[in-house]
Amino acid sequence: MRIVVIGATGTIGAPLADALAADHDIVRASRRGAVRVDLADPGSIEAMFTTVGNIDGVIAVAGSGRLAGISDSSDEEYFTGLDSKYLGQMRLVRQAARRVNDGGFVTITSGVVPSTEAGLSFAAAVNAGLDGFVPAAAAEMPRGIRVNSVSPGWISETLESIGRDGTAGTPVAEVVAAYLQLIDGTTNGQVLHP
Ligand SMILES: NC(=O)c1ccc[n+]([C@@H]2O[C@H](COP(=O)([O-])OP(=O)(O)OC[C@H]3O[C@@H](n4cnc5c(N)ncnc54)[C@H](OP(=O)(O)O)[C@@H]3O)[C@@H](O)[C@H]2O)c1
Repeated sequence: MRIVVIGATGTIGAPLADALAADHDIVRASRRGAVRVDLADPGSIEAMFTTVGNIDGVIAVAGSGRLAGISDSSDEEYFTGLDSKYLGQMRLVRQAARRVNDGGFVTITSGVVPSTEAGLSFAAAVNAGLDGFVPAAAAEMPRGIRVNSVSPGWISETLESIGRDGTAGTPVAEVVAAYLQLIDGTTNGQVLHP
């Protein structure tokens, strides 16, 4: 299959694109990637589909939020990811409904945040919104195109990169396996929690 991975240079996206490349033709996309796309920019999502042409699937593993407390951050800090992760992924699904081949797929990324950890309330809202969107969007998709989401908790490698205990998270290989599980088959409208 020909598959676009948006965020293919990231912690999850890089090993995912490498794993997929063994069996598929992979287009690696991001703001500074081989193919350029900014999920925060609706025009660039459209342009990406025009650039890549014929594709069977698209996976978004892009962007990362920043920790921003509800009372001690600016609006700009707090609402980081509204355009890219939330609206951007919904726009991606809407575009994919028109552009992905019959019987193709879209996989987006949400996430699970610990409610006891400060600075993640906006991320919690975005992830819950996306997880609500996926089953309803899947029911509306034309031409047999499937829509699913992968919703990881903290990834071990990310925790380690910020000086925290990686054993409290999920190894990225397990998260990559969840995306791989959604490539073939009939799973539709599901949110996977690796
Ligand atoms: N890491 C975790 O612990 C964790 C846990 C739960 C959920 N998640 C979610 O998983 C996704 C990926 O996380 P990650 O840790 O792999 O991220 P990451 O390591 O920061 O990598 C982000 C990737 O996305 C691209 N990107 C960033 N903003 C973009 C935009 N607006 N449009 C297109 N591409 C963009 C980056 O490349 P460019 O800079 O070239 O654009 C890069 O390839 C995010 O949605 C994140 O919220 C991560």
